[in-house]
Amino acid sequence: MSGRDLAAMRTEYSRGGLDESEAGADPYALFDRWLDEAVEAGVHEPNAMALATATPDGAPSVRIVLLKQLDRRGAVLHTNYESRKGHEVEHNPRAAAVLLWHELQRQVRIEGPVERVSAEESDAYFGSRPPGGRVSAAASPQSQVVPDRAWLQQRWDETAAAPDAGTRPPHWGGLRIVVESFEFWQGRENRLHDRIRFRLVGQTWDRDRLAP
Ligand SMILES: Cc1cc2nc3c(=O)[nH]c(=O)nc-3n(C[C@H](O)[C@H](O)[C@H](O)COP(=O)(O)O)c2cc1C
Repeated sequence: MSGRDLAAMRTEYSRGGLDESEAGADPYALFDRWLDEAVEAGVHEPNAMALATATPDGAPSVRIVLLKQLDRRGAVLHTNYESRKGHEVEHNPRAAAVLLWHELQRQVRIEGPVERVSAEESDAYFGSRPPGGRVSAAASPQSQVVPDRAWLQQRWDETAAAPDAGTRPPHWGGLRIVVESFEFWQGRENRLHDRIRFRLVGQTWDRDRLAP
């Protein structure tokens, strides 16, 4: 129970709009432009996104991950394939994600089926991580219950000292959301926001405006 008056917390959205001519016909181009603008606006971790997955019977779960690549094949994040999200996409290979660029009063939603990226792509990204992060990825049984912090630290120390320290373990790698739907949201005055959705139909993107 929060002692704060949550109902009274509100912000006016008046930074700009998104009309059809600005949105264009290519959601990847629009995403690139909005990401550039988020970087220029100083958004902290502009590639952070909430990633939703679900069990086969539809129980959802969500967590923040980092978008590490976006190209016409889809949106890539890197994680532990044996984590909760890893198991969920293995048995129900679909995901939805949302990026929030608060400073610009914007969000972007993406949805689609999920596949693993190639081992080569996972190796290339893993190799680019700082050494300590590589050790943690290999040492930590993500999403499992562990006895205590000391147990984790000991695993980390042992992994760091092992001869193969720094090599990618097979259970850690990239997941690609093969984007079938993008939605760009721009906050507007009086909550009459702009929502432009693109859906992939065959080889082309259909564009609609959704009610806020
Ligand atoms: C800003 C931020 C970035 C994160 N980036 C990642 C990431 O790229 N990959 C990842 O596996 N977990 C990342 N995490 C941790 C996840 O939110 C989550 O705790 C972890 O992946 C386990 O999720 P799961 O048990 O649902 O599988 C990040 C957390 C935060 C707050």
